[in-house]
Amino acid sequence: MDAVAPLCASRRTVAILENEPVARDTFRLRLDDPAMARSIRPGQFLMIRPANGSDPLLARPFALYDVIRDASGIPIAIEVVYIVIGRGTAALSRLRPGDGVIAWGPLGNGFGPPPDGPVVFVAGGIGQTPFLALGRWWLGGGAYGEGQPLTSRSSSATLLYGVRSKGLAAGVGDFEAAGIAVELATDDGSAGHHGYVTDLLARRLERGERPALVVGCGPPAMLAALSDLVEKFDVPCLLSLENHMACGFGACFSCVASIRQPDGSVDLRRVCVEGPIFPSRDVVRPPTGH
Ligand SMILES: Cc1cc2nc3c(=O)[nH]c(=O)nc-3n(C[C@H](O)[C@H](O)[C@H](O)COP(=O)(O)OP(=O)(O)OC[C@H]3O[C@@H](n4cnc5c(N)ncnc54)[C@H](O)[C@@H]3O)c2cc1C
Ligand code: FES
Repeated sequence: MDAVAPLCASRRTVAILENEPVARDTFRLRLDDPAMARSIRPGQFLMIRPANGSDPLLARPFALYDVIRDASGIPIAIEVVYIVIGRGTAALSRLRPGDGVIAWGPLGNGFGPPPDGPVVFVAGGIGQTPFLALGRWWLGGGAYGEGQPLTSRSSSATLLYGVRSKGLAAGVGDFEAAGIAVELATDDGSAGHHGYVTDLLARRLERGERPALVVGCGPPAMLAALSDLVEKFDVPCLLSLENHMACGFGACFSCVASIRQPDGSVDLRRVCVEGPIFPSRDVVRPPTGH
């Protein structure tokens, strides 16, 4: 709990630079926050709520999408990409450049250094957002946070990206520009594979591909199917969980997940502090919904 005081202290009002639609119901929000841009690492997140008014009162968590740099490479702003789900995200979507948000972070454990070999990201819905900065970092295309520079890099990165329909796919060009290959799956067959995104990974594993690491982010049913798949083929996998959160810094326990401990027991862990990233084998999963 030592981290709580400094994180609370970092709560501040930040100006919006851009809030642009990038896909159906989906927006890219750029925040004028050089301090956060200098310190945040891929896989970490921040809490955001509109600065004016009290509806909603609680901030919402959003993953780092990318850090924006000036011409000399100095981090000056951060971006998140969000889809409108309910009151919080609808209120964000109505904000304009110059409006303020209250934000705090960076929060969460973030990802560690890259695995040696190819990595495959598996995203469902809006779960692609943590993977742009991560892929860029692991491929050696950019430095993040105030940590040590990378001494190794991943040999390739692929995003397997599942959405309900083509119009919901956000930022495909951003991933490709960062050197991350993208394969789409859609529920309605409007683009890419007609079916589940996990089918794309299953095909690869069945034909003998063995990524050094798989990383998943998306709805619980997708993560459960992904966990079953990687377990079957004995491939290491990390999951970035998106549990509901109220505080984001460890105080309220609204975000807990059942996590298997080293001694085999299962205990509740706060996704906002001990996560959001956990090894898939440790996440106790609900039954697969598909
Ligand atoms: C670490 C983390 C990173 C995230 N990163 C992103 C991101 O980059 N982009 C993005 O769009 N979203 C992200 N999310 C999810 C985002 O925080 C929620 O979509 C948002 O809180 C919804 O707020 P709302 O007020 O619009 O919806 P609400 O009014 O709070 O909810 C509307 C409906 O959606 C359901 N719901 C809301 N949040 C969740 C959730 N997390 N899981 C399951 N059901 C939910 C509610 O039960 C309700 O039925 C992230 C979540 C976490 C924990
Ligand atoms: S959101 Fe409050 S403890 Fe995690």
